[in-house]
Amino acid sequence: MLVLVGLALFLVPAEPLTAFPPKFQVGKLNQDVVVRCDTSEQHIYWTLNGDEEPMAELVPEGQKLTIVGLDLPATGNYSCWAGPGHLLDTTYVVLSSTREEELNVSCQAESYNGSFHCSWPGPPSAIFRARLIRSDGSVGPWVPVASEQDQFSTSLADTLFCPFGEELRPLQLHLEGLSDTSYLNLSRHFFLRDIVRPEPPQQLILQQRGEQLHLAWAPPASWPLPKSYFALLYHLQYELHNGSQVEQFVEGAEETPVPVGAGWVRISCRDPYTPPAWSPWSAWMGLDAPQ
Ligand SMILES: *[C@@H]1O[C@H](CO)[C@@H](O)[C@H](O)[C@H]1NC(C)=O
Ligand SMILES: *[C@@H]1O[C@H](CO)[C@@H](O)[C@H](O)[C@H]1NC(C)=O
Ligand SMILES: *[C@@H]1O[C@H](CO)[C@@H](O)[C@H](O)[C@H]1NC(C)=O
Ligand SMILES: *[C@@H]1O[C@H](CO)[C@@H](O)[C@H](O)[C@H]1NC(C)=O
Ligand SMILES: *[C@@H]1O[C@H](CO)[C@@H](O)[C@H](O)[C@H]1NC(C)=O
Repeated sequence: MLVLVGLALFLVPAEPLTAFPPKFQVGKLNQDVVVRCDTSEQHIYWTLNGDEEPMAELVPEGQKLTIVGLDLPATGNYSCWAGPGHLLDTTYVVLSSTREEELNVSCQAESYNGSFHCSWPGPPSAIFRARLIRSDGSVGPWVPVASEQDQFSTSLADTLFCPFGEELRPLQLHLEGLSDTSYLNLSRHFFLRDIVRPEPPQQLILQQRGEQLHLAWAPPASWPLPKSYFALLYHLQYELHNGSQVEQFVEGAEETPVPVGAGWVRISCRDPYTPPAWSPWSAWMGLDAPQ
């Protein structure tokens, strides 16, 4: 990632990439790279980033072009032409990155249905695509990755994922990134159960039962059913009128008596059987609303 940033500062490429190019080739620094023009035309010529006489050392031969000793100035858009305006083929040539392991990818799922979301920071000039090696070993399609400033994010789904079975094999996320000059390739393995973080519980309502005020709620809409199988542990936090806080944990129920003197409440939940994250808190709800 640092390398990508560094390179982008020192080189001004032809055009910034906006989508993954259909054809690209990855070369190592100082090694020769052979680019092919997919054509039967006999007389062709090449441009690099639109330039007919680039500084790079290039050896054309028939439909092939050898880039001798790939370096930064020799990376970019190699296009072959039959004549002015008669574009035949385009290959994007980049250097392989050596620092790929530094990408800080974090993934989260709201449920056990096989869908999850990943995000990571990266240089704004880079583009990424992602795919999933599913739990049965089959390879999913590439999906585009959205970017907002220097933050990248994507949603993936293993449609074969079985929420009821024990998760025996990890999911495998495969990411490819291209900056103007370099290529990055990395995989992440994880179990869905380790990245599950529910959404907050919903539909908090107050019920008067005799003298006692009860609070009831519903599991997050995205949490799977049946409740008997996909249990949730709830964490309630009350703020009392005298300013102190009271914690309460509830499992196997979706209601509880409200402690005396409580003015405000908020609630969060998690899967009771896997250790990871609590859901975000719900918004604070006032308990003194006019009845
Ligand atoms: C490469 O250059 C060709 C010719 O100018 C253009 O059509 C193509 O979109 C460029 N490709 C990329 C990935 O910039
Ligand atoms: C990686 O990202 C997570 C979540 O965005 C963050 O909490 C963590 O500090 C980051 N780690 C590093 C080494 O930057
Ligand atoms: C990227 O990594 C995958 C898996 O490690 C490998 O199969 C693939 O050939 C790599 N792609 C390139 C262009 O190096
Ligand atoms: C899984 O659940 C989420 C939240 O309800 C939903 O957005 C997503 O489309 C579901 N994915 C699949 C594969 O059913
Ligand atoms: C607030 O009220 C609760 C319950 O009546 C009591 O246990 C607690 O000590 C009180 N806290 C303060 C700061 O007075």
